[in-house]
Amino acid sequence: MAEEAILSYLQDHQEILDSGHFASQHGLDHHEVVNTIKSLFGFRFVEATEIKRERWELTKEGETYAAAGSPEVQLFLAVPAEGSITIDELDKILDPTVCKIGRSQAARNQWVVLGKQISRKVQHVDDKVKNLLIRIKDGQAVDQNDIQTLKARKLISPQKWQGYSVKKGPSYAPKRKKAATDLTREHIQRGEWKDLEFKEYNFNAKGLPPEAGYLHPLLKVRDQLKFIFLDMGFEEMATNNFVESSFWNFDALFQPQQHPARDSHDTFFLRAPSITRELPEDYVERVKHIHESGGYGSRGYNYEWKREEANKNLLRTHTTAVSSRMLYALAQGPFAPKKYFSIDRVFRNEAVDRTHLAEFHQIEGLVCDQGLTLGDLIGILQTFFSRLGMSKLRFKPAYNPYTEPSMEIFSYHEGLSKWVEIGNSGMFRPEMLLPMGLPEDVRVIAWGLSLERPTMILYGIDNIRDLFGPKVDLSLIKRNPMCLLGL
Ligand code: PHE
Repeated sequence: MAEEAILSYLQDHQEILDSGHFASQHGLDHHEVVNTIKSLFGFRFVEATEIKRERWELTKEGETYAAAGSPEVQLFLAVPAEGSITIDELDKILDPTVCKIGRSQAARNQWVVLGKQISRKVQHVDDKVKNLLIRIKDGQAVDQNDIQTLKARKLISPQKWQGYSVKKGPSYAPKRKKAATDLTREHIQRGEWKDLEFKEYNFNAKGLPPEAGYLHPLLKVRDQLKFIFLDMGFEEMATNNFVESSFWNFDALFQPQQHPARDSHDTFFLRAPSITRELPEDYVERVKHIHESGGYGSRGYNYEWKREEANKNLLRTHTTAVSSRMLYALAQGPFAPKKYFSIDRVFRNEAVDRTHLAEFHQIEGLVCDQGLTLGDLIGILQTFFSRLGMSKLRFKPAYNPYTEPSMEIFSYHEGLSKWVEIGNSGMFRPEMLLPMGLPEDVRVIAWGLSLERPTMILYGIDNIRDLFGPKVDLSLIKRNPMCLLGL
C-alpha cells in the first residue's frame, strides 16, 4: 500500500517533502511509510533525507486538564460568586491536588483572595490553559511563551518526531519487483530466472533451533567415560545381553551356590526361558571341580555343586558376568595381554530408595597380563580416577568371592569434606582364572563402579529417581548442560 503510493507519487512529482504530511494526506500509517522508505532506500529506488522535528505532547496530567479544565478554573468555579468558602470545604468538593495547585495559580492570576476564607476577586475567567492544551493536542501552533509555561508546569513534554523527504533514486521504477528468495525448478523450466531479482542472503539471520533428540545425563557421562577408557587403550566388551545364566554371572566367578547374592531377594531369575541352552561342557566340569574340591592349591568350598543351579537364567547382577565370558574366550587362544572395559545396565532385586534402583549401570575395567601386581591395580585406579577429577584416593581391604585381594575405593569429596566410597576392585582369583585355561602367570586386575553415582554428583542430583525412571523431569533431559568430567 505505502510502497505503491510512494512510487506512483514520485512518478508525477519531484519530491515528497515530508513523509508525515504524505502519510496523513494518503491516509497511511506513518510508521509503515517510514519502513517502506527505508526498504526502498536500501534498494536505491529512492533517495531519502531525514527530517527531525520536536513536537509537544500532553502529559497524563495535561490530558486530564484538557478534559476537565485547569485546576485554577476548577477552583475558581468552586468558589461561590458571593461570599466565601473555607479550604476544608473546597477540599471536599475538589480533588486535594487540584485544589492545592488551583489555589496558588488562581491567586497568582489575581482571581481569588486567599485567607482563612477564600473569595472571588473577579466574576469571570477564561480557561486559557485548557484551550492551549487542546490546541497542542490538535497539532496547532502555540506561542513559545505559552509552551514554556506549560512545560514548566509539566503539562506537556517534547516528543521527537522523525520522518523523511524522498526523491527518486538511481534504481527508481514505478513498481518494485518482489525479490525471489529461492531459485526453483519452475523458475528454470519457465525461463523466469533470466529476469528474476534475488534477495541477498542474510548471514546474520538466526536459524531455527533444531528440534532434535536429547542425550540423557547418564549417556553424556557414559560417553566421556568411554572416551577416557579408549584414550587409556581399553577395548569395549560387548554387553548386549541382559539375560545371563547363573553360570557366567556366578559360578564362573567362583561364587558358591549358597552365596546370599544368588538369593531371589537380590537376583531376578527368569521364568521363561528359565534355563540356559548351552554351556562349554569341559569348562563347566572344571568349574564344578574347583567349587567342590578345589585345585591349583585351593581347597574349594566343599559342597555339592549342582548343574541345575548354574543353568538358571537371570538378569545379570553385574557386568563382571561379561568379563568372565571375555576372559574365558581369551583363554581359548594363544595368550595376549588385554585391557577391557564396559558400561552397561545391571539388575538387582533391591528395595528402591533415594540411592538405589532395581536397575542401574555399571562401569567395569580390567587389565589382563602376565605378572601384574596389586601395585599395578592401585596405579591404574589412580590414573583412571584422576581423569574423572578424583585424585585423592584411599583403599580399604574388602571381600569379593572372585577377587583376592579386594579393595573398596574411596575418594575425598571436596564439596562434602569427607571420604566417599566410589567403587570396588581386586585381582581375580586363580580359582576363577585357571579353570578358564589362562596361563598360570597371568593376573587380572579389575574394578567396578556405578555410572549413576558420579552422574548424580556432577549434576547435583540427590535422589536417583530424579535421574532415572518414570519420575524423571523431561526438561532435565532437554536442558541439562554439557558434561565435563575432571573439572
Ligand atoms: N562386580 C563388582 C560389583 O558388582 C565390582 C567389581 C568388579 C569388583 C571387578 C571387583 C572387580 O560390585
